[in-house]
Amino acid sequence: MDVCCLSAVWYLIAIYALIQLVRFIFADADFTLLWACLVGNKPETKLKGLVVWVTGASSGIGEELAYQLAGCGCRLILSARRVDELDRVKRCCLERSNLQDQDILVLPLDLLERTSHEAKMKTALQHFGNIDILINNGGRTQRSLCLETSLDVYQALMELNFLGTASLTKQVLPHMTQRGTGSVVTVSSVAGLAGAPLATGYCASKHALQGFFNALRTELTDYPHILISTVCPGPVQSQIVQNAFTEELDMPVTRVGDQEYKMATKRCVHLILVGIANGVKEMWISKQPFLLFNYMWQYTPTWAWAITDLLGRKRVQNFKAGLDADAAYFTKPKTS
Ligand SMILES: NC(=O)c1ccc[n+]([C@@H]2O[C@H](COP(=O)([O-])OP(=O)(O)OC[C@H]3O[C@@H](n4cnc5c(N)ncnc54)[C@H](OP(=O)(O)O)[C@@H]3O)[C@@H](O)[C@H]2O)c1
Repeated sequence: MDVCCLSAVWYLIAIYALIQLVRFIFADADFTLLWACLVGNKPETKLKGLVVWVTGASSGIGEELAYQLAGCGCRLILSARRVDELDRVKRCCLERSNLQDQDILVLPLDLLERTSHEAKMKTALQHFGNIDILINNGGRTQRSLCLETSLDVYQALMELNFLGTASLTKQVLPHMTQRGTGSVVTVSSVAGLAGAPLATGYCASKHALQGFFNALRTELTDYPHILISTVCPGPVQSQIVQNAFTEELDMPVTRVGDQEYKMATKRCVHLILVGIANGVKEMWISKQPFLLFNYMWQYTPTWAWAITDLLGRKRVQNFKAGLDADAAYFTKPKTS
């Protein structure tokens, strides 16, 4: 190869690298998911007519899931504890779609009341005859330092985020294996992959979910048409901070930070639906720099730990000083 040819190759490689860098700077999801967005199945066509059970459908990500799924023509089972909020979400779904009243079942459910889950599953089946997709979305986060947090809070987080989700999944899964088809999609978190300060119990519960579903997927290799998918969002606009556990059970959050820097709920949910429509097994959904952090945590953990130390210290300092710990990385912290 002559010198001219060689430099042309280097030139092309440099241009390719530059394009990928620019794509990455503006990316808000992992490349597999973004690729599916570009060339994959569209949720409106792939999910149309399917029966989807959404937990945590009364606010935030779950509420938006209900709207977008209704827009795709899915029939819905909406679950959470607050019936009035679920009724409101149902009404909005009907207004925004061509669905009829009987296409949406409001099924109040407490993830903590595991003994009720079998009956809930029966009610859902009686209404629709089958369940195509279960979206395990209900859950709560944490805002408290480990040393100041009661063990009861850790128990509650594991009971809700992990055991409640595992329990409902175990009710729905036999129905899916019997039919040989279905999807169990679980909204985990970036905290299911990495560690974050002020959320030791939350991280533990989401890591537990990641382990559970990664292991479950390996047990279902004889069922190629059953999708086990975990969704790992970074910060998304919702009620999650208001509803967070703190040092003690029933102690409310006193500082709710700025939501502006977080990803819009609509965008996050659109990406989730694209992932489901394309059978993506793990979805990373984050604006930068969280997405970069995901990649670093996966591929260069030593560097990721160094950054966590740096940012974690700052976040803990702000939290102790009574400042807005959540926005501490990006905006000037303010008292609330
Ligand atoms: N927002 C984020 O930044 C973010 C990032 C990563 C992951 N996530 C995950 O996304 C999921 C949804 O959270 P979100 O951000 O949308 O927060 P959210 O607005 O607070 O919604 C949480 C939902 O969970 C339900 N829920 C809470 N406790 C429940 C229980 N005992 N039984 C049944 N449902 C219960 C709530 O409904 P009721 O109160 O009516 O029961 C509500 O619908 C969670 O799993 C969260 O960990 C969120």
